[in-house]
Amino acid sequence: MITLSASQADFLQAQVPLKVLFARKEALLPQGEALDARLGGLLRRALAGAGFRGEAGESLLLATPEGHFLVFGLEEDLRHAGGRLAQTLLRHAFPEVLVEPVEDPYALAEGLLLGAYRFERYRQKQEERVLKVSLSGAEAPGLERVWKVAEGVYFARDLVNEPPNVLTPEALAEAALSLRALGVEVEVLDEGAIAELGMGAFLAVARGSENPPRFIALRYAPEGAKERLDLVGKGLTFDSGGYSLKPTESMATMKGDMAGAAAVLGAMKSAALLGLPLELRGYIAACENLISGRAYRVGDVLKTFSGKTVEVMNTDAEGRLTLADALAYAERQGARQILELSTLTGAAVVALGEEVAALFATEEAWGQRVREAARRAGEKVWPMPLERAYREKLKSPVADLKNVGDRNGGAITAALFLAEFVGVPLAHLDIAGPAFAKKAHALGPEGGTGFGVRTILELAQAL
Ligand code: BES
Ligand code: ZN
Ligand code: ZN
Repeated sequence: MITLSASQADFLQAQVPLKVLFARKEALLPQGEALDARLGGLLRRALAGAGFRGEAGESLLLATPEGHFLVFGLEEDLRHAGGRLAQTLLRHAFPEVLVEPVEDPYALAEGLLLGAYRFERYRQKQEERVLKVSLSGAEAPGLERVWKVAEGVYFARDLVNEPPNVLTPEALAEAALSLRALGVEVEVLDEGAIAELGMGAFLAVARGSENPPRFIALRYAPEGAKERLDLVGKGLTFDSGGYSLKPTESMATMKGDMAGAAAVLGAMKSAALLGLPLELRGYIAACENLISGRAYRVGDVLKTFSGKTVEVMNTDAEGRLTLADALAYAERQGARQILELSTLTGAAVVALGEEVAALFATEEAWGQRVREAARRAGEKVWPMPLERAYREKLKSPVADLKNVGDRNGGAITAALFLAEFVGVPLAHLDIAGPAFAKKAHALGPEGGTGFGVRTILELAQAL
C-alpha cells in the first residue's frame, strides 16, 4: 500500500531514506542535474557505467555520498509512469521516499495509487507494508482529490475481484448500502418488489439461481445541484451463460460481469467523497445467470418493464435483458441523459481488443461528451456506429424483438437492442475488454481494472 503526501522541503536537502530522480532518455530533470553538479559528475558517470538508457520504466538504484537515489525512466503518459514507479518502489524495502517534481504531479500521483493496488484478502500471508511517498511540487488539496478518485477505482476493483460465491447479488447490494455512510441515498428492491414493478426480463435471467436478485437504486443529490447524470451498470455477479452454457475458459472471468455496476458504485463513492456539485443517479439490476429447473429457456417470451416483449434466442445474451429493464426504469425516474456501462459482448473485444471500450450513442453530441471525458481520464474508448440497418436482425416472429442478431456485428446489435428501451440520449460503453485485465499492466495487477470510474467522474465534472 502507498500513502501520498505533499512535500515543501528542498528536494536535495531533505532527509529521506530514498529519493526518486527522473530521466527522459539521456536527459535528467532539474534535481538530477543539480545533484550531478554537486557530485562533480558522479551521477552521470554511474548511469553511463551501468548502461542506463532512461527508457520508460527503467530504473537504477544508486548509493551516493548524498544518500540513496532511484533514477527512473519517465514516459509520455505520467499516469503510466506513476504506476510503474509504484510497482518498482514496492519491490524495494525503503519505508519512505521523496519524488522530484514533474510537470503534472497529480497525474503521477494517480498512477502511483492505481499501480500500487493489490487484492490480497484471500491469501493466508498478506503484504502489510505501507510505503510513504512524498511528492515535491504537489499541493495537499490536489493530492486529496487524487486519493478520492483512487478510492472509487479501488472500490470498483475490489468488487470485481471478489469471487462470485462471496459477491452475490445481495452482497453487491450491501456494498451499495455502505455508501449511505457518505450521504448517498440507496434503495434496494427484493424479488417481490422487482416482480411487482413488472421487470419481467430481469427476473427471467435471475430465476435460475438460488441467490435472489436485487435491484439497486442510488441517488447522490447535494444541495443546490442543477445538472443531473443517470448511470446504469450491468450487474451480473456471475454469468455461466445459462442453458446457452459457456465453455469453462470463457466462464473463468465471468465473476467480472458486474464490472459496469462496479464502475457506477465506484464513481458514486468518489463523487460523494469529492462533494461534486451535481446530482448522480445509479441503477443496477443485480443477479446471476445460472442453470436449474427454474432457469429461463431458449424460446421463452418475456415481458419487459417497458411493456415490449422479447423472445429469448440465447440465454447467454442476458445482460441486455437485465439492462433493458434497468434503462427503462431510469427513464421512468426522470433521467435526462444516461451513461450505461456493461461487459456486454465478446464481439466488442474481437473488434477493439482488451484495452479499448466500444462507445455507442443514440445522440452524437452526448457520445462526444463521453468520448472527451474518457480521453481526459486516460481511459481508452472508441466510437462505434449504432447502425439502424441492422435493427432488422432483432426482428422476432413471435415477439416485439429477439435478444440476439446473427454472428456479425454482435456489439452493434446488442447496442441497438438497448436503444429500444430508452427515449432520452443514451451512451452505451461496452467494457467487456478493458474491465478485466488478464495480466498485470502499468496501472495495476491482473483482475478488475475499475474501468469507467474515472470517465464517469470526468463527465460529471464537465456537465
Ligand atoms: N458477459 C458476456 C460478454 C463478455 C464476453 C464479457 C467476454 C467479458 C468478456 C455476455 O453476457 C455474453 O455472453 N454475450 C454473448 C452474446 C451472444 C450470445 C450474442 C457473447 O458475447 O458471446
Ligand atoms: Zn452472457
Ligand atoms: Zn454477461
